[in-house]
Amino acid sequence: MIAAVGIGPGAQELLTAEAVALLRRADVVVGYAPYIELIAGVLAPSTQVESSGMRQEVERCRRALSLHREGRRVVVVSSGDAGVYGMAGLLMELDPSADVEVAPGITACQAAAARLGAPLMNDFAVLSLSDLLTPREEVLRRVRAVAAADLVTCLYNPSSRRRRPLFEEVVGLFLAERAADTPVGWVKNAYRDGEEVHLTTLGVLAGEPVDMWCTVLVGSSRTEVLGGRLVTRRGYADKYEESWEDAGE
Ligand SMILES: C[S@@+](CC[C@H](N)C(=O)[O-])C[C@H]1O[C@@H](n2cnc3c(N)ncnc32)[C@H](O)[C@@H]1O
Repeated sequence: MIAAVGIGPGAQELLTAEAVALLRRADVVVGYAPYIELIAGVLAPSTQVESSGMRQEVERCRRALSLHREGRRVVVVSSGDAGVYGMAGLLMELDPSADVEVAPGITACQAAAARLGAPLMNDFAVLSLSDLLTPREEVLRRVRAVAAADLVTCLYNPSSRRRRPLFEEVVGLFLAERAADTPVGWVKNAYRDGEEVHLTTLGVLAGEPVDMWCTVLVGSSRTEVLGGRLVTRRGYADKYEESWEDAGE
């Protein structure tokens, strides 16, 4: 067995039953050290753990594939979903013949949305602002297209000390297409220790202290703050206007 397992945003309650079963069956669990810590509570005492640091994704997956070829039951963990900016695809790229099982997890986008309210009620896009694996120009081209399409936009890897100018440029591209009072929410460490939930607007987003532990949700023209929560209208109020009024909504 070799499985790419999404562990969700962090809290043990958000691990799926499938993920727990695979983690308990594993001989070896391979992953980024902080993610291994998040699931340490569900591992059997005999499980071998191989944790490594940031930017060691290729080495980590090569090691996992080699352990698998030796006949070990191997789980490679990713935060959120293993197939969303995670390890699943890399394992398949490195060895297309390996029968990699993928166990889905709750993504950071879903987790941040739940903490903020219901911002993903209508069409949305997900973009990563990391320019480590995608050239900066390509990132900016995608941002321009999504900003113009009026989609609620979930931004992964929004900023770092090195990439702060890129984040500010991205906010500028959204401001070229959307009003400065467009609601925005961002969540740091969703469902983990040190969680922070913030509501703000596009006009001041460039100055917010977002970093690589945050997920940002930029609203569309249908997004509002209702009762302190970020909500994107699905369209019910327009379609059923009369009954809406009857119900006092
Ligand atoms: C390499 S991506 C991993 C995405 C993950 N596979 C998923 O499905 O959500 C790392 C980025 O995910 C976001 N992220 C992951 N966990 C998060 C959490 N608990 N709270 C907020 N953002 C998170 C941050 O934007 C971070 O920079």
